[in-house]
Amino acid sequence: MLLSWHLLSPSLILLWLSSSNALCPTSCNCKQTDKGLRKVSCTRGGMRDPIPTSEMDIDTEVLEISAPVDNHNTLSMTSIFQQFKHLQEVSIRRSNIHQIAMHAFWGVPSIKMLDLSFNSISAVFDHNFRGLVNLLELNLDDNRILKLQIGAFKHLTELRILSLRRNLLEELVPRIFSKLAKLHVLKLSENKFEEIDPEVFKDLPDLHVLELRGCGLKRINTQLYHLLPYLSHLDLGNNQFQFLAEDEFQDLHRLHSLKLDGNLLPVILEKTFVNQQQLRYLCLARNRLAKITDTAFFNLTNLVEMDISFNKLSKLESFALRHVADTLQRVWHLEVAHVKLKYIPDRFFPDRIKKLNVSFNNLTSFSVQTIPRQLQELDISNNQLQGLNDSVIIKLETLKFVNLSGNPWSCSLCHITSILFRVNKTDLFKNFTCASPKNLQGKQLTSLRLEDVTTCNSKHKEDDSSFSNNKLGLIIGLVCIVIFGICSIVFVVCSCVRRHSRNLERQRKRVAENAGNSLGTATAIFCKEEISFKFPLDLTERKMSVSTIDEIKRDSQQSLPNGTGAGI
Ligand SMILES: *[C@@H]1O[C@H](CO)[C@@H](O)[C@H](O)[C@H]1NC(C)=O
Ligand SMILES: *[C@@H]1O[C@H](CO)[C@@H](O)[C@H](O)[C@H]1NC(C)=O
Ligand SMILES: *[C@@H]1O[C@H](CO)[C@@H](O)[C@H](O)[C@H]1NC(C)=O
Ligand SMILES: *[C@@H]1O[C@H](CO)[C@@H](O)[C@H](O)[C@H]1NC(C)=O
Ligand SMILES: *[C@@H]1O[C@H](CO)[C@@H](O)[C@H](O)[C@H]1NC(C)=O
Ligand SMILES: *[C@@H]1O[C@H](CO)[C@@H](O)[C@H](O)[C@H]1NC(C)=O
Ligand SMILES: *[C@@H]1O[C@H](CO)[C@@H](O)[C@H](O)[C@H]1NC(C)=O
Repeated sequence: MLLSWHLLSPSLILLWLSSSNALCPTSCNCKQTDKGLRKVSCTRGGMRDPIPTSEMDIDTEVLEISAPVDNHNTLSMTSIFQQFKHLQEVSIRRSNIHQIAMHAFWGVPSIKMLDLSFNSISAVFDHNFRGLVNLLELNLDDNRILKLQIGAFKHLTELRILSLRRNLLEELVPRIFSKLAKLHVLKLSENKFEEIDPEVFKDLPDLHVLELRGCGLKRINTQLYHLLPYLSHLDLGNNQFQFLAEDEFQDLHRLHSLKLDGNLLPVILEKTFVNQQQLRYLCLARNRLAKITDTAFFNLTNLVEMDISFNKLSKLESFALRHVADTLQRVWHLEVAHVKLKYIPDRFFPDRIKKLNVSFNNLTSFSVQTIPRQLQELDISNNQLQGLNDSVIIKLETLKFVNLSGNPWSCSLCHITSILFRVNKTDLFKNFTCASPKNLQGKQLTSLRLEDVTTCNSKHKEDDSSFSNNKLGLIIGLVCIVIFGICSIVFVVCSCVRRHSRNLERQRKRVAENAGNSLGTATAIFCKEEISFKFPLDLTERKMSVSTIDEIKRDSQQSLPNGTGAGI
């Protein structure tokens, strides 16, 4: 034993020496990745040609070149990698690369991931990628690509993910994606396509994820969907859609996630999603929805999350959620913020909802019957609530999360009494202040004493219903003028002063409101983030379509309490 140790140790030391002496360019870092791959990382910026490959260990497996935003590199992409027979991931970003040389990656078939985002590449040709027969992921985001040669990616027959976001593509012509039969994910967001020829997608029979966000699209020829039978994630957000036909999505039977936020849709027609039984996430936020027809969500029996925030659903007659509740059997997360709701009828929301966001509406009352039985999280901030009922408070205290901020609490007996009795027993009202009456404005609820509280203040009510009281006010005013004719001058002076102060108040309110609005839109986050993929990909068919998509993973973990929905 001892002897063999003696024999072994010199070679071990030698090995250790050689690895610690491994080549590493002076401006770079060289170490192992979490997965034990040899990585060269040059991210300080200001690099110039040539890329210092002669100083790199030929066993390098991961190469990362990038730069800070204010100190880009200036590099060119030529065939410099031939001797690196173990390269798997190459990422050269923020390096002002204008073009990829012919056969730049020839002789390095080991590369699986190539990221050339944040450069200045303007055209892509098939010879650029020749030899990358094992490439799985290609990222060309944030370049200036105007044109893709027909068959530009034809050598990348193993490619699963192609990303071309934020380029200058104006059209996609047929055969552009030829030979990409295994492509699962195509990201084309933020290019300016006016229209898309469905023929383009004939070459992508296995596409699961398609992102066409922010492309200025007015419509999509539904033949496109017919060609993509496996599509599970479709992002059409931030486009110009004004209309969805009832049969718009009829060919997409496997959709899991559909984002239509930020379009111009005024209505969701009857049975629009009737064939989307697999749909789990639907985002319709930031449209112009004033109407959702009774059967709009018919057959969406697997939906778990829906976002209809930032629409114009102020009239509840047309807000037909109650009628559709039966088909929304699993929705547990509902976002209904910024839709100008004034009132929610009792038992309006299905009991199974766990997470409800009704913030930034115009709710003046909120009864315990409105709270879904299984609710755990409630955001009812920034409404017009002046007080809360005892039973509501008791119910709210049982929830995991409640946000009640931004409501104009009225510290008068008719509104605040229930709250006041509990204000020192719960955290719900911490830091809340009285918005009215005037003499208590800005006072912390927790420091309020019962004897401070005024009786129901009629002046405040007058302010609220000034429109309906206008006529009465006028008559009284006239009578006053007749009776106090002699004192009319004095009266006019008085009322002028009063009107002035009222105007001031109104103005102040408006300013505050505007400030609130702009804040709301500036900070709001719409829909969920993009689908992200882990590298390396697990390429077994089932896993690829479901598990590597973090979003879906999260859905299936969180949403289905009894686990019955796991059979995707
Ligand atoms: C609801 O979806 C199922 C399964 O996709 C389908 O068979 C059925 O026809 C749909 N219902 C209607 C009314 O179309
Ligand atoms: C919502 O409430 C605000 C503040 O009270 C008001 O100015 C606005 O007109 C209301 N909106 C609707 C649609 O009622
Ligand atoms: C609580 O609300 C209900 C209706 O929402 C109302 O009838 C009742 O008077 C309220 N109770 C209190 C104590 O405010
Ligand atoms: C409650 O909502 C307000 C405004 O919507 C927000 O500023 C605040 O951070 C929220 N509080 C919590 C605890 O989320
Ligand atoms: C209340 O306000 C204080 C200071 O204004 C702040 O430190 C504290 O975090 C706030 N508490 C809550 C629950 O918002
Ligand atoms: C709550 O506690 C504060 C200080 O501890 C006290 O000043 C206040 O009067 C209490 N409020 C009520 C309603 O008891
Ligand atoms: C509720 O929706 C508003 C508007 O979209 C958002 O700002 C807020 O963060 C949401 N609340 C929660 C608790 O997610």
